[in-house]
Amino acid sequence: MTLKKSKEELRVRSIKNGSVIDHITAGNALNVLKILDIIGTTKAIVSVAMNVTSKRLPYGRKDIVKIEDRELIPAEVDKIALIAPQATINIIRDYEVVQKNSVVLPDIITHVVRCPNLNCISNSAEPVYSKFKVLDSLALRCSYCETIIDTDIAAYLI
Ligand code: CTP
Ligand code: ZN
Repeated sequence: MTLKKSKEELRVRSIKNGSVIDHITAGNALNVLKILDIIGTTKAIVSVAMNVTSKRLPYGRKDIVKIEDRELIPAEVDKIALIAPQATINIIRDYEVVQKNSVVLPDIITHVVRCPNLNCISNSAEPVYSKFKVLDSLALRCSYCETIIDTDIAAYLI
């Protein structure tokens, strides 16, 4: 194990096994947890750092989420691209980073974001999950009613 981080950078300690979601757009750590279904009471061991310094991200700030003993799979991770397009996912085994991936915007997202149109079938009593075509990182189009979300996607997270 290489200890290359200075004490100042190691605000949240290294983990032995699990996933580190790094370079999250500052302020979005809790949205990332929501996307990963880590809400309310959870048994997962989770560390969150918000608004820590980053050389790479806008305004020099980023969030980090560390989830111990869970290796995230691409399908769950790629939804994170909606709110944190620059996030990197590091898989840690025995303290070493064994995999580092960028998030990739999915083409379609199902049951992640709710449609703003209250009359949309995905908001009705019918058992229809919301479904959006991802136009780009800033715009989604409802596959049922064509309503577009192009501002503050995080506000519509289910
Ligand atoms: N990390 C961790 N526990 C470990 C190893 C790494 O929590 N046992 C965290 C680091 O603190 C960092 C992330 O995982 O937030 C990625 O680690 P590393 O690749 O070593 O850091 P950088 O080189 O800074 O990554 P990048 O090039 O992606 O910025
Ligand atoms: Zn709709």
